[in-house]
Order: sequence, then C-alpha cells, then structure tokens
Amino acid sequence: MKIGFFDSGLGGLTIMNAVTKELPQYDYEFYGDTANLPYGDKKEEEIFELTKRGIEHLFAKDCLLIIVACNTASTETLRKLQTEYLQINYPDRRILGVIIPTIEKLLEERIEEAILIGTNRTIESRKYHIELNKYTEAPKLNSIATPSLVPLIETQKYDEAYAQICSIIDSRTTEKGIILGCTHYTTLNAKLSDRYREDNFKIISQDEIIPKKLHEYLNRHPELEKRLGKNSKRNIYLTKHSEIYDKFLADLLGGVFIDD
Ligand code: DGL
Repeated sequence: MKIGFFDSGLGGLTIMNAVTKELPQYDYEFYGDTANLPYGDKKEEEIFELTKRGIEHLFAKDCLLIIVACNTASTETLRKLQTEYLQINYPDRRILGVIIPTIEKLLEERIEEAILIGTNRTIESRKYHIELNKYTEAPKLNSIATPSLVPLIETQKYDEAYAQICSIIDSRTTEKGIILGCTHYTTLNAKLSDRYREDNFKIISQDEIIPKKLHEYLNRHPELEKRLGKNSKRNIYLTKHSEIYDKFLADLLGGVFIDD
C-alpha cells in the first residue's frame, strides 16, 4: 500500500518531495486539485466535498495513510473526515494533517512570538490558535491572511511572492519567526531561510517538518509501516493540466514523474 498526499494544487508536491528524500523506500501517490484551486476563499462545505473527493481517489489508489498537506483543507475538514468519513469507510486507514506537527515544531523552537501567514480560510478558522491554546506555555501568534500569494506562486511569479513575504517579515516588531501556513509558500522556504538566517529569525516551513514527523509516526506505528509497499514508486494525479504545471513538475522533480 502507499502513502498519499492531498493538496489543492501543486504546492504540496514540495512537501511530498521532501518526504520522499527522508523516506525513499515507500510508494507515493499525489493528488493535486488544480481544477478547483484556490481553496482559500471557498466555503467550508465546498472545501469538505472537494477534499473528500481527493481522499476517495487516493484510497482507491491503495493509499494506507493520507497526508492532507493543504492547510486550508486541514483547518476546514480534517477532524470531520477523521471522525465521520474514515471511521465508517476505512477504519483501518489513516488521514493526517499538517497543523499539529507545525505547532509542535513552533513549541520545539521555543519561539515566544511568531507570525502566521496563510489563506483567508486558514486564518479566519483560527485553527492554529485553537490548537496552540491547548498548551500552557503557548507562544503568541499574530496571523496575517495573504490571499494574493497562491495565485502568484501557481503562476511562478516567485519574485513577487517572495517580496511580499519579506515585506511582512521586515515589518515585524517583536516576532522571532514566521509559520508559512500554506503548502505553496514552502516553495520559497530555502530563499527565505537564507535571507533571515543572520537575523536569527526562524522560517517554519512544512517541507522541513513533515518528513521527520512522518518518520517518527511510522516508527510509533509498526503495524501500519509493515503494510506499506517499498518499491520507491511515485505517481502524480492532477485534476487539470497546464504547461506551467508541467514546467513546475519538471523543475521540482526532474520530469521523471508521470501521472495517470
Ligand atoms: N494549498 C493551500 C494551503 O495549503 C493553499 C492554496 C489554495 O488556496 O487552494 O492552504
């Protein structure tokens, strides 16, 4: 069986790619809902239905566990999918999100005050704050919705997206880190981390967090791990194609991945 990744677009591939480097032996299946992107301004019910459709596709492709890499989908649907859908339809499989691992990382870094950027839905849901407030020594989190970033990144206008994030960071007062709370923003992690390393300002990016957290999860769950195929297969399914997407795939993955 495989490890599945769900995202509203291509950004989640950055996370899957990082996971395949940490855990190269497993078989992976990616679902990117490029036909319905962006999710960031959609209503909760629509996000739930679209995410469920992607999850069903991934389970039909023999995924044992699925990572909902999309923060927007994680905030709006994860709990409901886990408690209502999974229990009834696939009780022996798992659906995991990205928000709790990211919060754990923020706590591990011992940052007292941080900025969170994400889509309108992610920020409005206050899901990061709700989860964070379960900890007694929760850091202060100042959130900013950045809805213009996803269209820029999807159309590969990376310089403009990078400049916007830098301007948010440069206007900081007491914050010592930023959570890139959207899969798409992780494509800028390396450049941002380089720029702010000297300032001792931490870029918290899920492509660095999820590989290690998934590794630890599989170590804790040998009953799941032993059911995973170990043939290093990768497959990518997009609900809509374009030349820009093909270029992104070629740049990120060396053009070696196919989709069917
Ligand atoms: N992938 C989504 C996320 O991580 C953002 C893109 C969208 O708006 O669909 O939040």
